[in-house]
Amino acid sequence: MDAYLLEFANMLLRWLHVIAAVAWIGESIYFVMLDNGLKTPKDEACRKKGVFGEMWAVHGGGFYHNQKYATSPEKLPDDLHWSFWKSYTTWLSGFALFTLLYMANPSFYLVNPNSAWEWAANMTGWQANVMALLFLLGGWVVYNELCKRISPNMERDGVLSIAVAVMMVVVAYLSVHIFSGRAAFLLTGAVMATAMSANVFFWIIPGQRRMVKALKAGETPNPIDGKRGKQRSVHNTYFTLPVVLLMISNHYSFLYAHELAWVIMTLFIFAGALIRQFFVLMHSGQIKPAYPAAGVVLILISVWVAAPSSAPAGGTDVAAAGDGPSVAEVSGIINERCVTCHSREPSHPSFNSAPAGITYDSDENILNSIAQIKQVVGSNYMPLGNMTQMTDEERAVIAAWQE
Ligand code: HEC
Repeated sequence: MDAYLLEFANMLLRWLHVIAAVAWIGESIYFVMLDNGLKTPKDEACRKKGVFGEMWAVHGGGFYHNQKYATSPEKLPDDLHWSFWKSYTTWLSGFALFTLLYMANPSFYLVNPNSAWEWAANMTGWQANVMALLFLLGGWVVYNELCKRISPNMERDGVLSIAVAVMMVVVAYLSVHIFSGRAAFLLTGAVMATAMSANVFFWIIPGQRRMVKALKAGETPNPIDGKRGKQRSVHNTYFTLPVVLLMISNHYSFLYAHELAWVIMTLFIFAGALIRQFFVLMHSGQIKPAYPAAGVVLILISVWVAAPSSAPAGGTDVAAAGDGPSVAEVSGIINERCVTCHSREPSHPSFNSAPAGITYDSDENILNSIAQIKQVVGSNYMPLGNMTQMTDEERAVIAAWQE
């Protein structure tokens, strides 16, 4: 019953998280489009009022006329629309989900027993939890320091972008070496997503509050607040596409269970940012197909990098020994190593229904999923956390199994 309620809570939180993220990212993409699509108003009186850009749009059966003021309107209305709850809700629900799923079961989901770094492979559950929290916090601190030190007055934003890109490669590399593949993708996405929400919380909203306060007091707002808000929201826009991919990556073990998972992750982060760049420019009227084309090239490289190798795992020469293992031999291994979890009635205490809906109760089920079994066993992704202690010899038998 407990496992069932936990699953239910997980589902509800995920629902909330996706809805809040869609609303937040949707609004953020909308405002980038609006900002880049502004045209100088034709109406002289309008320009005199301080409007420096406007956009006409038709949507949902009505006509809209947005105007952006260069500095400030003569009079600020009381019912100003602010955007922050969507961002905070996304982060809070995402963090709750991470706690419920990963931090409640760290030895399953966070620890990578196959890590090339011995200390990481031997982390206890709570050490892995502390590590995950440090990772998120550290990501924000480093990113924030880079922004503050490299481009404090927004005068070196180009150099800053390169530094942030390098930082993301390092994050991808570290995460894959410290955590299990699935958690590594998620945590790298969470480092970016945390930076995005923290940008809103620590810089964009406080800056806007100072601007509004100054205007209400009849003073001129400090332009640095506006510029910094813009800098951070530009970063946020390039993070969005990569973050979405990293968040849904947990459905695709061929991405994160690969030994070069950090390279695959890096390729996708840059591909996402390049594709986003195309749309950012497009809204300001420039069509630059080279950006998405470069993004597609990176994705094609990742198709090549992530392709499963044909060599049997463990390198043992079982295949050469004959026609490959018998069905009985394979199903014996699966029964011993997989069915504790992958059964209609799992005997493993952490599961009350088959994980990912996959069951191996009958030989028929096993035979129907040969390719998938070979993939997850060959990449060491399954058995999860090698909880059932599958041996290299057994992995080699699975790899040598003929379809
Ligand atoms: C300790 C429990 C446990 C054991 C043992 C286990 N699995 Fe899994 N398996 C899981 C969980 C949990 C998931 C879902 C993970 C996820 O959501 O990606 C999963 C997912 C899968 C998937 C789907 C992967 C995907 O790409 O979404 C396959 C295939 C799979 N397991 C096969 C196996 C095989 C084959 C074995 C035995 C060699 C095995 N599992 C042993 C817990 C286990």
